[in-house]
Amino acid sequence: MPNELHIKDLRVEVKGQEILKGVNLTIQPGTVHAVMGPNGSGKSTLAYAIAGHPNYVVTGGEVIYKGENILELDPAERSKLGIFLAFQYPVAVPGVTVANFLRAALNAHRAQPNVDPKETAIPMAQFRKQIKAAMQDLSMDDGFARRYLNEGFSGGEKKRLEILQMSMLQPSMAVMDETDSGLDIDALRVVSEGVNRLLNPDMGVLVITHYQRLLNYIKPQFVSVMMEGRIVRSGGPELALELEERGYDWIKEEVVGSLN
Ligand SMILES: Nc1ncnc2c1ncn2[C@@H]1O[C@H](COP(=O)(O)OP(=O)(O)O)[C@@H](O)[C@H]1O
Ligand SMILES: [Mg+2]
Repeated sequence: MPNELHIKDLRVEVKGQEILKGVNLTIQPGTVHAVMGPNGSGKSTLAYAIAGHPNYVVTGGEVIYKGENILELDPAERSKLGIFLAFQYPVAVPGVTVANFLRAALNAHRAQPNVDPKETAIPMAQFRKQIKAAMQDLSMDDGFARRYLNEGFSGGEKKRLEILQMSMLQPSMAVMDETDSGLDIDALRVVSEGVNRLLNPDMGVLVITHYQRLLNYIKPQFVSVMMEGRIVRSGGPELALELEERGYDWIKEEVVGSLN
């Protein structure tokens, strides 16, 4: 399948320490794949490596998407290819408004080599219409677009902004890192509905979460468990329910047992 994200034996170091120790994972278009795991198991490291964060040094393996080994592309090129990361901890950028940031991101996607960016830029009226509709879908008031990026945002507002970006950029492969953390039940519903509206048969989604709760709203077809930098179990949605009930320790014991 050309548009599946194919992660093969991925090894990643952070500050000289190996965190991902050979991760294998395939995400097919039109599916939601959840990766669950205890804190510190390497979930965010996987997300950052897919997006191309410079602190996460790939020491082995491949990530193939749309026929390219994306590990050879810079983050902007990956984004243009349709890959999107919703951050676990979005950063504040004082001085840059939400609207200007989103317009710059859209225009960067529309830019073409050897063409004046003015020619490919989204017309202002079209942009305004698009952002207004997207914000309404996420129950955000108009003033939100004029605020500085994540500055003074509540946890819920930060996560809504990640989904607003996603709905403006319409990625074909979305990675969502703990989008549920810090959300109360109403915000969780708004955010999940926003994501579900974007799902389509050409889009793959990797949902990273510690808790099963989110998966009641964004329903995965596949669930994988990460532990100590490896995928140690894979199954369907029932695996998430089992983790909810039994915690992670039983898997840890089984994994350690199988190594002996
Ligand atoms: N930027 C970083 N600096 C130092 N250590 C890091 C950094 N990112 C991740 N690590 C380490 O890598 C391991 C996995 O972290 P992470 O990928 O954030 O796990 P998870 O998202 O599953 O909680 C942890 O031991 C963490 O301390
Ligand atoms: Mg994390």
